[in-house]
Amino acid sequence: MKARHPSESLAILTDFVLTGETNSLNNLFGGELLARMDRAAGIAAGRHSRRVVVTASVNHVAFNKAIPLGSVVTVEAKVSRAFTSSMEVYIDVWVEDRQSGDKTKANEAIYTFVAVNESGNPVEVPPIEPQTDLEKERYDAALRRKQLSLVLAGKMKPNDATELKALFI
Ligand SMILES: CC(C)(COP(=O)(O)OP(=O)(O)OC[C@H]1O[C@@H](n2cnc3c(N)ncnc32)[C@H](O)[C@@H]1OP(=O)(O)O)[C@@H](O)C(=O)NCCC(=O)NCCS
Repeated sequence: MKARHPSESLAILTDFVLTGETNSLNNLFGGELLARMDRAAGIAAGRHSRRVVVTASVNHVAFNKAIPLGSVVTVEAKVSRAFTSSMEVYIDVWVEDRQSGDKTKANEAIYTFVAVNESGNPVEVPPIEPQTDLEKERYDAALRRKQLSLVLAGKMKPNDATELKALFI
């Protein structure tokens, strides 16, 4: 399969924060942001693999900044690494200042998607070739994150997580 670049998978979702999507402090409800990120990441994984994809795990979410009612929120998702059937998708969330138009990073997350066939069984995806420094950094760290996720899910023995263990030795 021909390798693709992360930029080919880029998915960008921009939308307001509306009433009904906020918590009692009038900031964006965390579950709403998780859903927006899941949609963007699913589109990115679908663009990379050109297959049906399912969310296998949410590996990391950081709600660093509250996002107030009325904000314009942009969710950017890109495949950071492709393995055999799974893909790590890195998601950056930006909030736009209405007056200056400047965008501030509000949150980020990392999801894992798996490409599946009509029966829901995993299928192979194309490899990925990172281009920019940031894409290379995220690509390099993705294997350790996959191992950590599998260990926590009880699907890999800690002793087999060679690259992850190397961080602590
Ligand atoms: C995701 C799913 C297809 C994986 O099926 P499976 O039988 O566990 O298949 P495998 O063990 O062969 O794993 C497939 C890939 O997913 C990866 N994977 C599975 N669980 C993972 C986890 N918790 N974290 C990271 N990767 C994971 C495996 O490492 C493997 O990757 P690789 O092929 O690139 O090496 C299956 O569990 C599923 O359909 N889950 C429901 C998905 C869903 O409905 N999501 C919507 C939210 S409800």
